[in-house]
Amino acid sequence: MAELKAFVCGHPIAHSRSPLIHSHWLKSYGIDGSYTAIDVAPTDFAVFLSGLAAAGLRGGNVTIPHKEAAFAAVQRRDEAAEQIGAVNTLWFEDGVLWGGNTDAYGFAANLDHFAPGWAKGDVAVVLGAGGASRAIIHALKQRGFKDIRIVNRTVARAEQLANQFGAGITAHPQAATPELLGDASLLVNTTALGMHGNEGLPADPANLPGHAIVTDIVYVPLETPLLTAAKARGLKTVDGLGMLLHQAVPGFERWFGKRPEVTAELRNLIVADM
Ligand code: ATR
Repeated sequence: MAELKAFVCGHPIAHSRSPLIHSHWLKSYGIDGSYTAIDVAPTDFAVFLSGLAAAGLRGGNVTIPHKEAAFAAVQRRDEAAEQIGAVNTLWFEDGVLWGGNTDAYGFAANLDHFAPGWAKGDVAVVLGAGGASRAIIHALKQRGFKDIRIVNRTVARAEQLANQFGAGITAHPQAATPELLGDASLLVNTTALGMHGNEGLPADPANLPGHAIVTDIVYVPLETPLLTAAKARGLKTVDGLGMLLHQAVPGFERWFGKRPEVTAELRNLIVADM
């Protein structure tokens, strides 16, 4: 059989850790395949997509700034992509180009792994109202959260999301009040706050109940100021690196025919590269 080929495309793309993840799995499972990073400028994206099959590519990942363009361009979409309005994974099925979104899956699988039982409660607070927040809200709804409170600097963006996702989702201005946090079982940060370490916290974990779980989708640094503050309060925390690793699983399975495992070895490999 010919070598199985997949890719990640974005612009810029040099920072992507996806090649490291997929190459590790290809090697571990002894699969004759490749996964390469391709820099595609926005003006070239349509032509790039139309040439996938001819280039012998089985599919790939799509990252910034192409996720919305991919959503519009594919012939079929999975349910998560429909809800989130963005596509991060492409594959062919009977010659038809499909687009999916694996971010919500990755988010939930990371918590399943490190905080089993995380979805037992009804109330979650989500910081941020961008593309990542949309995927998280989809995951939270799927896992049965009934009261999801979106906190955002620009309240209008939070309101837009709340309207789109419907009943039980509410919009709130920054910073999160004690009342908003007091009965929440999950706090999720989806904003870039904390990547540079020196900004104030958009929510104080001291206002959460003792059983609450705090998670950040930012993974550089692995322990963000929010997670540090949550730990100091004695709360369970989960960092964002596992979301990156788990979101890669469904794509790998589609292109290479094997459901890969997210192991400590893989995690350490990525941490060593950070
Ligand atoms: P992504 O796709 O990663 O979610 P995005 O769509 O640019 O990226 O959204 C970034 C989120 O981080 C937004 O919620 C943004 O708040 P605004 O909607 O008010 O812009 C939030 N964010 C980024 N920098 C921030 C800062 N310094 N303080 C507060 N919120 C910030």
